[in-house]
Amino acid sequence: MECKIVEFTSKGDERGQLVALEQGREIPFPIKRVYYIYDTKTDVERGFHAHKQLEQVAVCVKGSCKFRLFDGIEKMTVELSTPEKGLHIKGMVWREMFDFSPDCVLMVVASLPYDEADYIRDYDKFLEMTKR
Ligand code: TYD
Repeated sequence: MECKIVEFTSKGDERGQLVALEQGREIPFPIKRVYYIYDTKTDVERGFHAHKQLEQVAVCVKGSCKFRLFDGIEKMTVELSTPEKGLHIKGMVWREMFDFSPDCVLMVVASLPYDEADYIRDYDKFLEMTKR
């Protein structure tokens, strides 16, 4: 599985904390887009898709949420609950996000602009594409 938790260095001082994400340092791809998911309603699950090319780093900058990941071989569940860690999602990976805390703000840094053509939303098609 080409997904892993990455740790960020927080520049904390007596005023509080600051994390910086830079292309080529914390983010290992050219940054083309940032979006965030928040105000997620109770028991909502999101995602349910894979991407052909997109690479992402997801950071729960507030609250917590969980990811279910599946690359066709290996399954993994990851909890994000600190702004000091991110989840790097790379390769053809089916992802589902769940257990959002009411205060969760999930920020995602992405390697490409939004493009519906890059999505695989059909689970059977995903299984077919990851079979070989
Ligand atoms: P959706 O793909 O359903 O989100 P998730 O994968 O988190 O469940 O996206 C919700 C809507 O937002 C959908 O109409 C597409 C749109 N959208 C954009 O316009 N730009 C983006 O960068 C993203 C991620 C989604």
